[in-house]
Amino acid sequence: MKRGKFIVIEGGDGSGKTTLLKSVGEVFPLKKFRLTREPGGTPLSEIIRGVMLSDEARRASAETQFCLAWAARAHHLQNLVVPALESGVHVISDRFDSSTFAFQVHGQEAPHLEGLFREIRRIYLGRYAPDMYIFLHVSPKVGMRRTAGRVGERNHFDRRKFEFHQKVTEGYLDFFKKINPPHVIIDASKSLEEVKRNFHQALCNIIGRK
Ligand code: TYD
Repeated sequence: MKRGKFIVIEGGDGSGKTTLLKSVGEVFPLKKFRLTREPGGTPLSEIIRGVMLSDEARRASAETQFCLAWAARAHHLQNLVVPALESGVHVISDRFDSSTFAFQVHGQEAPHLEGLFREIRRIYLGRYAPDMYIFLHVSPKVGMRRTAGRVGERNHFDRRKFEFHQKVTEGYLDFFKKINPPHVIIDASKSLEEVKRNFHQALCNIIGRK
Protein backbone atom coordinates (compact mmCIF):
# COMPACT_ATOMS: atom_id res chain seq x y z
CA MET A 1 0.00 0.00 0.00
CA LYS A 2 1.18 3.50 -0.87
CA ARG A 3 1.96 5.57 2.18
CA GLY A 4 -0.26 8.63 2.76
CA LYS A 5 1.24 12.12 2.67
CA PHE A 6 1.98 13.98 5.86
CA ILE A 7 1.11 17.67 5.59
CA VAL A 8 1.51 20.35 8.24
CA ILE A 9 -0.41 23.63 8.27
CA GLU A 10 1.04 26.56 10.19
CA GLY A 11 -0.09 30.12 10.57
CA GLY A 12 -0.57 32.74 13.24
CA ASP A 13 -3.69 34.44 14.54
CA GLY A 14 -5.70 35.99 11.74
CA SER A 15 -4.03 33.94 9.00
CA GLY A 16 -7.27 32.11 8.21
CA LYS A 17 -5.82 28.75 9.27
CA THR A 18 -8.96 27.51 11.04
CA THR A 19 -11.27 28.50 8.15
CA LEU A 20 -8.95 26.94 5.59
CA LEU A 21 -8.65 23.68 7.51
CA LYS A 22 -12.43 23.45 7.53
CA SER A 23 -12.46 23.95 3.76
CA VAL A 24 -10.30 20.90 3.00
CA GLY A 25 -13.43 18.76 2.71
CA GLU A 26 -14.70 20.98 -0.10
CA VAL A 27 -11.84 20.00 -2.34
CA PHE A 28 -10.96 16.48 -1.28
CA PRO A 29 -13.03 13.53 -0.12
CA LEU A 30 -12.68 13.64 3.65
CA LYS A 31 -12.41 9.92 4.12
CA LYS A 32 -8.96 9.96 2.59
CA PHE A 33 -7.78 12.45 5.19
CA ARG A 34 -7.13 12.50 8.84
CA LEU A 35 -7.23 16.00 10.28
CA THR A 36 -5.38 16.35 13.55
CA ARG A 37 -3.70 19.00 15.69
CA GLU A 38 -0.78 19.76 17.96
CA PRO A 39 -0.31 19.84 20.80
CA GLY A 40 -2.82 17.01 20.91
CA GLY A 41 -4.28 14.49 18.50
CA THR A 42 -4.39 11.51 20.89
CA PRO A 43 -6.09 11.37 24.31
CA LEU A 44 -2.74 11.44 26.12
CA SER A 45 -1.37 14.28 23.97
CA GLU A 46 -4.57 16.26 24.53
CA ILE A 47 -3.87 16.01 28.28
CA ILE A 48 -0.38 17.39 27.66
CA ARG A 49 -1.98 20.16 25.56
CA GLY A 50 -4.16 21.04 28.55
CA VAL A 51 -1.01 21.33 30.67
CA MET A 52 0.90 23.45 28.12
CA LEU A 53 -1.94 25.91 27.68
CA SER A 54 -3.08 26.04 31.31
CA ASP A 55 -2.72 29.22 33.31
CA GLU A 56 -0.29 27.35 35.57
CA ALA A 57 2.04 27.04 32.56
CA ARG A 58 1.84 30.76 31.85
CA ARG A 59 5.30 31.35 33.26
CA ALA A 60 6.74 27.94 32.40
CA SER A 61 10.17 28.17 30.80
CA ALA A 62 11.00 27.35 27.20
CA GLU A 63 12.75 24.18 28.48
CA THR A 64 9.55 22.96 30.16
CA GLN A 65 7.28 23.75 27.21
CA PHE A 66 9.81 22.35 24.72
CA CYS A 67 9.84 18.94 26.41
CA LEU A 68 6.07 18.86 26.88
CA ALA A 69 5.60 19.64 23.19
CA TRP A 70 7.99 16.88 22.12
CA ALA A 71 6.47 14.38 24.56
CA ALA A 72 3.02 15.08 23.13
CA ARG A 73 4.42 14.89 19.59
CA ALA A 74 6.08 11.50 20.09
CA HIS A 75 2.82 9.99 21.28
CA HIS A 76 0.79 11.67 18.53
CA LEU A 77 3.21 10.50 15.85
CA GLN A 78 3.49 6.92 17.09
CA ASN A 79 -0.21 6.39 17.76
CA LEU A 80 -2.06 8.42 15.18
CA VAL A 81 0.12 9.83 12.39
CA VAL A 82 2.24 6.79 11.53
CA PRO A 83 -0.63 4.23 11.60
CA ALA A 84 -2.74 6.52 9.36
CA LEU A 85 0.09 7.11 6.87
CA GLU A 86 0.89 3.41 6.75
CA SER A 87 -2.74 2.58 5.97
CA GLY A 88 -2.62 4.96 2.99
CA VAL A 89 -4.46 7.87 4.63
CA HIS A 90 -3.17 11.44 4.23
CA VAL A 91 -2.62 13.28 7.50
CA ILE A 92 -3.06 17.04 7.85
CA SER A 93 -1.80 18.40 11.14
CA ASP A 94 -2.76 21.81 12.46
CA ARG A 95 0.74 22.76 13.75
CA PHE A 96 3.73 20.47 14.29
CA ASP A 97 7.43 20.83 15.20
CA SER A 98 7.69 24.16 13.34
CA SER A 99 5.53 25.56 16.17
CA THR A 100 8.05 24.40 18.78
CA PHE A 101 10.83 26.12 16.85
CA ALA A 102 8.75 29.30 16.46
CA PHE A 103 7.21 29.48 19.95
CA GLN A 104 9.84 27.97 22.24
CA VAL A 105 13.17 28.56 20.49
CA HIS A 106 12.21 32.02 19.15
CA GLY A 107 9.14 33.36 20.99
CA GLN A 108 10.37 32.22 24.39
CA GLU A 109 13.91 33.21 23.45
CA ALA A 110 15.82 29.98 23.87
CA PRO A 111 18.36 29.86 21.00
CA HIS A 112 20.45 27.45 23.10
CA LEU A 113 17.73 24.82 22.42
CA GLU A 114 18.27 24.90 18.66
CA GLY A 115 20.89 22.14 18.64
CA LEU A 116 18.68 19.94 20.80
CA PHE A 117 15.75 20.73 18.52
CA ARG A 118 17.66 19.42 15.49
CA GLU A 119 18.78 16.30 17.32
CA ILE A 120 15.40 15.43 18.81
CA ARG A 121 13.74 16.14 15.45
CA ARG A 122 16.07 13.70 13.72
CA ILE A 123 15.56 10.96 16.31
CA TYR A 124 11.83 11.38 17.01
CA LEU A 125 10.62 11.97 13.45
CA GLY A 126 12.97 9.56 11.70
CA ARG A 127 11.40 8.47 8.42
CA TYR A 128 8.19 10.33 9.23
CA ALA A 129 9.21 13.95 8.87
CA PRO A 130 6.36 15.83 7.14
CA ASP A 131 6.19 15.65 3.33
CA MET A 132 5.11 19.28 3.20
CA TYR A 133 4.68 22.31 5.45
CA ILE A 134 2.21 24.97 4.34
CA PHE A 135 2.80 28.26 6.14
CA LEU A 136 0.08 30.90 6.00
CA HIS A 137 2.22 33.96 6.42
CA VAL A 138 0.70 37.13 7.78
CA SER A 139 2.42 39.87 9.77
CA PRO A 140 1.27 39.94 13.41
CA LYS A 141 0.07 43.52 12.84
CA VAL A 142 -2.35 42.47 10.09
CA GLY A 143 -3.25 39.26 11.93
CA MET A 144 -4.03 41.09 15.16
CA ARG A 145 -6.10 43.68 13.33
CA ARG A 146 -8.18 40.90 11.82
CA THR A 147 -8.83 39.14 15.10
CA ALA A 148 -9.51 42.26 17.19
CA GLY A 149 -12.93 41.96 18.76
CA ARG A 150 -13.13 38.25 18.11
CA VAL A 151 -14.67 36.39 21.00
CA GLY A 152 -13.50 32.97 22.00
CA GLU A 153 -10.97 31.22 24.12
CA ARG A 154 -7.49 32.68 24.16
CA ASN A 155 -4.60 30.81 25.73
CA HIS A 156 -1.66 32.45 27.50
CA PHE A 157 0.39 32.46 24.28
CA ASP A 158 -2.40 34.28 22.38
CA ARG A 159 -2.55 36.88 25.14
CA ARG A 160 1.14 37.79 24.91
CA LYS A 161 2.19 41.12 23.53
CA PHE A 162 2.98 42.09 19.98
CA GLU A 163 6.76 41.58 20.31
CA PHE A 164 6.25 37.94 21.22
CA HIS A 165 4.14 37.30 18.10
CA GLN A 166 6.70 39.14 16.01
CA LYS A 167 9.42 36.78 17.27
CA VAL A 168 7.19 33.76 16.60
CA THR A 169 6.65 34.86 12.99
CA GLU A 170 10.40 35.37 12.52
CA GLY A 171 10.86 31.94 14.09
CA TYR A 172 8.77 30.27 11.40
CA LEU A 173 10.76 31.96 8.65
CA ASP A 174 13.99 30.94 10.37
CA PHE A 175 12.74 27.34 10.60
CA PHE A 176 12.07 27.19 6.86
CA LYS A 177 15.43 28.77 6.11
CA LYS A 178 17.61 26.71 8.46
CA ILE A 179 15.83 23.36 8.64
CA ASN A 180 14.61 23.76 5.07
CA PRO A 181 12.02 20.97 4.88
CA PRO A 182 9.70 20.79 1.83
CA HIS A 183 7.52 23.86 2.31
CA VAL A 184 5.25 26.43 0.70
CA ILE A 185 4.83 29.93 2.12
CA ILE A 186 1.48 31.48 1.24
CA ASP A 187 0.93 35.22 1.57
CA ALA A 188 -2.07 35.20 3.91
CA SER A 189 -2.45 38.98 3.96
CA LYS A 190 -4.34 38.69 0.66
CA SER A 191 -8.11 38.16 0.49
CA LEU A 192 -9.45 34.95 1.97
CA GLU A 193 -10.62 33.86 -1.50
CA GLU A 194 -7.14 34.18 -2.93
CA VAL A 195 -5.46 32.55 0.05
CA LYS A 196 -7.96 29.69 -0.17
CA ARG A 197 -7.20 29.20 -3.86
CA ASN A 198 -3.45 29.10 -3.21
CA PHE A 199 -3.94 26.78 -0.26
CA HIS A 200 -6.04 24.31 -2.27
CA GLN A 201 -3.52 24.50 -5.11
CA ALA A 202 -0.71 23.65 -2.69
CA LEU A 203 -2.67 20.64 -1.42
CA CYS A 204 -3.39 19.50 -4.99
CA ASN A 205 0.31 19.70 -5.83
CA ILE A 206 1.12 17.34 -2.98
CA ILE A 207 -1.63 14.78 -3.30
CA GLY A 208 -3.11 15.31 -6.73
CA ARG A 209 -6.69 16.15 -7.67
CA LYS A 210 -9.60 14.25 -6.18
P1 TYD B 1 -4.35 26.80 19.52
O1 TYD B 1 -5.56 27.30 20.22
O2 TYD B 1 -4.48 25.55 18.73
O3 TYD B 1 -3.78 27.96 18.63
P2 TYD B 1 -4.30 28.39 17.20
O4 TYD B 1 -5.79 28.41 17.24
O5 TYD B 1 -3.66 29.72 17.07
O6 TYD B 1 -3.74 27.36 16.29
O7 TYD B 1 -3.25 26.64 20.61
C1 TYD B 1 -2.05 26.04 20.39
C2 TYD B 1 -1.02 26.86 21.09
O8 TYD B 1 0.09 26.08 21.45
C3 TYD B 1 -0.52 28.01 20.23
O9 TYD B 1 -0.57 29.20 20.99
C4 TYD B 1 0.91 27.64 19.96
C5 TYD B 1 1.28 26.73 21.10
N1 TYD B 1 2.31 25.72 20.77
C6 TYD B 1 3.58 25.82 21.33
O10 TYD B 1 3.86 26.76 22.07
N2 TYD B 1 4.51 24.86 21.03
C7 TYD B 1 4.24 23.81 20.21
O11 TYD B 1 5.11 22.96 19.96
C8 TYD B 1 2.92 23.72 19.63
C9 TYD B 1 2.58 22.58 18.71
C10 TYD B 1 2.00 24.71 19.94
